[in-house]
Amino acid sequence: MARIIYGSELSVKLKSDMAHQVEQYTRIHRQPKLAVVLVGDDPASMSYVKGKEKACDAIGMASKTYHLDGSTTLDTLLTLIDGLNHDHTVDGILVQLPLPDHLDEQQVLSKIDPSKDVDGLTPISMGRFFANQPGFKPCTPLGIMALLKEANVTIEGKHAVVVGRSQLVGNPIAQLLLRANATVTMCHSRTVDLEEVTKTADILIVAIGKPRYIGANHVKDGAVVIDVGVNRVDGKLCGDVDFDMVEPKVSVITPVPKGVGPMTITMLLSNTLQAYRLHEGIDV
Ligand code: GUN
Repeated sequence: MARIIYGSELSVKLKSDMAHQVEQYTRIHRQPKLAVVLVGDDPASMSYVKGKEKACDAIGMASKTYHLDGSTTLDTLLTLIDGLNHDHTVDGILVQLPLPDHLDEQQVLSKIDPSKDVDGLTPISMGRFFANQPGFKPCTPLGIMALLKEANVTIEGKHAVVVGRSQLVGNPIAQLLLRANATVTMCHSRTVDLEEVTKTADILIVAIGKPRYIGANHVKDGAVVIDVGVNRVDGKLCGDVDFDMVEPKVSVITPVPKGVGPMTITMLLSNTLQAYRLHEGIDV
């Protein structure tokens, strides 16, 4: 029987602390604000954006969503971001991904002022992150580290296996685990005999976008399993890990939904609050 770690519960605690901070700050300072840019009508993206708006509202943070038509040109989008970069009431800018195919994601992300890049996805933030310099770190990896801490998981000296090598999750979480002194192995779609590698993991992080792909045979007894996948199968959400098969075998596991997902949003709020403090000159 594993201990199930609910990001939804940890999020409540962290958001309550942040709500208290916002209340204190806004007695003398302006309200912190997140700008969210959404291009097109992808239902999953629309639902994520709604979640972000709700979360901002819950801690007393302002948010504004710029919902642009799916045929929006690169010029229009870059002009909008430029305006937000120069708007002193905006602390954080998030461009919801994926963008429609005709828009170059890197070109768009590069336009965001690094001091407002609360998603930590611009090339400058990424460069700072990998160079171990101060800057915003990507939210999902930050959320995973917070979950591991909450579960009192020792990272130092452990073998962490990361399945998936995305810029959003796989690459940066491998880096954070390495910095926490784990021995890290990265697996991906071309890994030969994935099972042989994942079976050796003390800590297994899965972010591949394949519903219930990781089964009991992929994990060793007592492992810690973090499932980053969000897949919709027959109208129901499930992770990349076959929870029912894996849970009895491991010591710690995150569910889907209510696992990593809520932590990503919570870390976005945390980064935005950090940006706000920088912009307002508030020391911590
Ligand atoms: N789409 C899915 N996850 C994310 C995320 O963390 N940030 C952004 N901007 N888009 C996403």
